[in-house]
Amino acid sequence: MKKLSIIANWKSHKTIKEAEEWLHAFHDAFSSQKHSLPEKTVIIASAFTLFEHLRYCTGNLKLPIQFAAQDISPFGEGAYTGEVNGRQLRELTNDVLIGHSERRKYFSEDDTVVNEKVKQALANDIRPIVCVSDLDQVRSIGKTTNIMVAYEPLLAIGSGNADTRENANDMAKKIKKVLADTHVLYGGSVTSKNVHDFTSMTHIDGVLVGNASLNPQEFFQIVINA
Ligand code: PGA
Repeated sequence: MKKLSIIANWKSHKTIKEAEEWLHAFHDAFSSQKHSLPEKTVIIASAFTLFEHLRYCTGNLKLPIQFAAQDISPFGEGAYTGEVNGRQLRELTNDVLIGHSERRKYFSEDDTVVNEKVKQALANDIRPIVCVSDLDQVRSIGKTTNIMVAYEPLLAIGSGNADTRENANDMAKKIKKVLADTHVLYGGSVTSKNVHDFTSMTHIDGVLVGNASLNPQEFFQIVINA
């Protein structure tokens, strides 16, 4: 059986207190249903400000959740005010989202910047989860191993209109032709109702969940239904 990755993308949401409340609610759902999740990896991609406290709380609650960053500096250590570099991130996480369509749209990240970020992550032993909306963006990553790709069609993000599972699976297959041995996630309006449509497809190895991950009960149900 394939090991699914279920990643919550909290984007620019939640204070420390709200994140703690979310974890307690997720924990309540988790312990009341006595589920174990051996075949699933659950990751929350949160703002940097939440990392320390989230790690402390998941340790206390013994929750099988890992954390990912949502961004990484395209530069190494140095005079780059406001940036968090790979060496700093390595102390906190094993994974980082790179090239999310919102970063491409609102922060003018192009494929060159995305590639620099991928290099910085790999050089610091952090796995890049590169978000793409088409095959050109996949090709521009270049041949590399130890990355994950999240296919997120632009029209599906935050719209309530998920892609069809056939399209998503077909794209995942094509992505794997360009980048062999790469795990591919689907993202875009995933909910507890449609998650299994995607995770049951041959080439899809998990999901990246935005809006629906902000609600702990709904995200728990996504993890269970995946
Ligand atoms: P959505 O977001 O689930 O709200 O569509 C997905 C994403 O942007 O990663």
